[in-house]
Amino acid sequence: MTDRQKTLVLTGASRGIGHATVKRFSAEGWRVLTCSRNAFDDRCPWPGGADNHVQIDLADPNNTIAAIETIREKLGGKLDALVNNAGISPKTEGGGRLNTLETDLRTWGQVFHVNFFASVVLARGLRAELAAAKGAVVNVTSIAGSRVHPFAGAAYSTSKAALKSLTREMAHDFGPLGVRVNSIAPGEVETSILSPGTDKIVDGLPMRRLGQPAEVADVIHFLCSDQSSYVTGTEIEVNGGQHV
Ligand SMILES: NC(=O)c1ccc[n+]([C@@H]2O[C@H](COP(=O)([O-])OP(=O)(O)OC[C@H]3O[C@@H](n4cnc5c(N)ncnc54)[C@H](OP(=O)(O)O)[C@@H]3O)[C@@H](O)[C@H]2O)c1
Repeated sequence: MTDRQKTLVLTGASRGIGHATVKRFSAEGWRVLTCSRNAFDDRCPWPGGADNHVQIDLADPNNTIAAIETIREKLGGKLDALVNNAGISPKTEGGGRLNTLETDLRTWGQVFHVNFFASVVLARGLRAELAAAKGAVVNVTSIAGSRVHPFAGAAYSTSKAALKSLTREMAHDFGPLGVRVNSIAPGEVETSILSPGTDKIVDGLPMRRLGQPAEVADVIHFLCSDQSSYVTGTEIEVNGGQHV
């Protein structure tokens, strides 16, 4: 037991699942360092917001590596959880699925930098702080990582499949440091990333409804808490039964 305030570093905090995650952890008394491309928005309802925000473009590897020093200074030695949540899912001009025949290599690379490489770059850069706190890493993958999805593009889906594999590799390598690494794979969650037509998918789901960002945040919180102290290298599906 400790009275020390726990700290979370969270990417993609400004909207959707990330926003719900800040609210969940703040309500539990955690300090949350938020990372996204934009400056802190004063309308965000959590304490210490601007001081605890790091502006970072995860599509730019140099910017990501440079931001690590800023994050380390703000942490001051210990990091209890890193949640790699930021993600992009580019579409065709008409909003359709970008397939393997059409996806331009530059777009593919950008998707991999945000959705995949940033996760390992941040975790490696913060490994001393994670080890000092016996912390946890959660990578946010997707159901699209394990099947062709009607709207998610090939770059997005392969980046999420790679992130799932990265979770396994990192669990192996970070375990001896006392750091657990898991992933969560959301299905259709009500955020701005969804495409028109998602309602048709929802009609076929066992639970017949969209997930809410707060329901995903609850599972992320579980994986960062002592309640999952012997869980590592796994992926939890959060999708109302979409995978069955
Ligand atoms: N919603 C779903 O149904 C669903 C399903 C499966 C998986 N997921 C995954 O869940 C995660 C969150 O999704 P969401 O639906 O909440 O997405 P969202 O509403 O589109 O939010 C994405 C977040 O990522 C940040 N971001 C995007 N590009 C960035 C960059 N280059 N550098 C830094 N931050 C960046 C955005 O912040 P800024 O724009 O301010 O930078 C934003 O906070 C993603 O990894 C997504 O793939 C979502």
